[in-house]
Amino acid sequence: MSTTTEERLIRPARNVAGSLRLPGDKSISHRYGMLGAFAEGTSRFTNFSTGADCASTLACMEALGAKVTKAAENAIEVTGIGGKVVPAGHSEYSLDCGNSGSTMRMMSGLLAAQAGSFTLVGDESLSKRPMERVRKPLAEMGADVALTDGHAPVRIHGRALKAVDYTTPVPSAQVKTCILLAGLQTEGMTTVREAIRTRDHSELALRAFGAKLTRSSDAVSITGPQALHAIDAAVPGDISSAAFFLCAAALFPGSNLVLAQLGLNPTRAALLDVLTALGAHIAVLDLEEKHAELVGTVQITSPPEGLGSTTVSGGLAAQLIDELPVLAAIAPYTSGGIRIRDAKELRVKESDRIALVVKNLRAMGAEVEEFEDGVDVPGGQRLHGATIDSGGDHRIAMAFSVAALRAEGETLIQGAESAGISFPEFFDLLEQVAER
Ligand code: S3P
Repeated sequence: MSTTTEERLIRPARNVAGSLRLPGDKSISHRYGMLGAFAEGTSRFTNFSTGADCASTLACMEALGAKVTKAAENAIEVTGIGGKVVPAGHSEYSLDCGNSGSTMRMMSGLLAAQAGSFTLVGDESLSKRPMERVRKPLAEMGADVALTDGHAPVRIHGRALKAVDYTTPVPSAQVKTCILLAGLQTEGMTTVREAIRTRDHSELALRAFGAKLTRSSDAVSITGPQALHAIDAAVPGDISSAAFFLCAAALFPGSNLVLAQLGLNPTRAALLDVLTALGAHIAVLDLEEKHAELVGTVQITSPPEGLGSTTVSGGLAAQLIDELPVLAAIAPYTSGGIRIRDAKELRVKESDRIALVVKNLRAMGAEVEEFEDGVDVPGGQRLHGATIDSGGDHRIAMAFSVAALRAEGETLIQGAESAGISFPEFFDLLEQVAER
């Protein structure tokens, strides 16, 4: 985590309106970057995520021998290692995953089957996050992976693995991907089963890079070893970044916001249903498919009577996990409140997101009840500006910048630079669409 902490002052707005095109999806960029760097040949990606997390993935893959060059303003070229880590003349690779759980967990699977020794390290936040969830399935595949108290550094001595049939105990696309990337390089059929279907970008990306996999409603199987081949792709706009703007627009009767070329993969787009259930009007235009990822233009307007109420629980909580902080942050401004349950995973994200949501809502004068796996935020509340502790967590910093737009008085976001983890353009774009 950065040692400097930047503050941002957010003034209340009277409306949100305009048209934006957002930088590339973080989840898809991680996968395209990692697979392109692993594949044979040179891939070209436009609208690649500008966030620091995806830069961590690219830097790790460069350290392993891939080449990354900036091709144009928002385009990169990635020349892959052809499925084998380049021997670098030293015994062990040290790879810095920064703040990025996706980098560390997905890359563990990729490297467990490679000849070589690797140590994956992360910043203070990442070093506290659970890694046993990747060590366990990889160990079942015969991998040599060691942690310290369940945490990073992740020490891997790569070797040939055996295929497994593994049911993930906690829904996690990162863990699913980790196992699939190990399975890609392993003789036989590896299957990952999940009780709740998580985002399927890895399945779609692996297919785009030429791999064959089979899917059923609750399982995905890959038979290895298989080679990957370079692709050219445009990364769809990030719907989890869009969530901040969609929620901001939902807060203002009379708002009208258009977000072009947004990723609308059904495993990621549940927020649109939740905002519709809350009373917002959402139109989706120009739908198309790019490498099996749905992309479209979304227009949101908010009704004169304001937002209603909703509950997010069960599988929906898992699908909306990255959007829950901003939903909780706008909940006081709804008429009936928002109830969130079955979201215990929020406690082990870049921060304890339940604790920070509760702390910051209270700082703004809101009433909120905290549960181990969620929050109850009553509606019909008026909030005042406050000093927000982002905890160095990008989604907390951005969620409360949105809440600040409807507060009375100014709000100071501490650790605002953390937005750069996923969305460095966030504050500039917010200024562009917030009318004062
Ligand atoms: C991600 C999966 C989710 C999500 C994270 C990105 C991914 O994490 O919260 O921001 O790209 O696969 P989990 O796999 O831990 O649920």
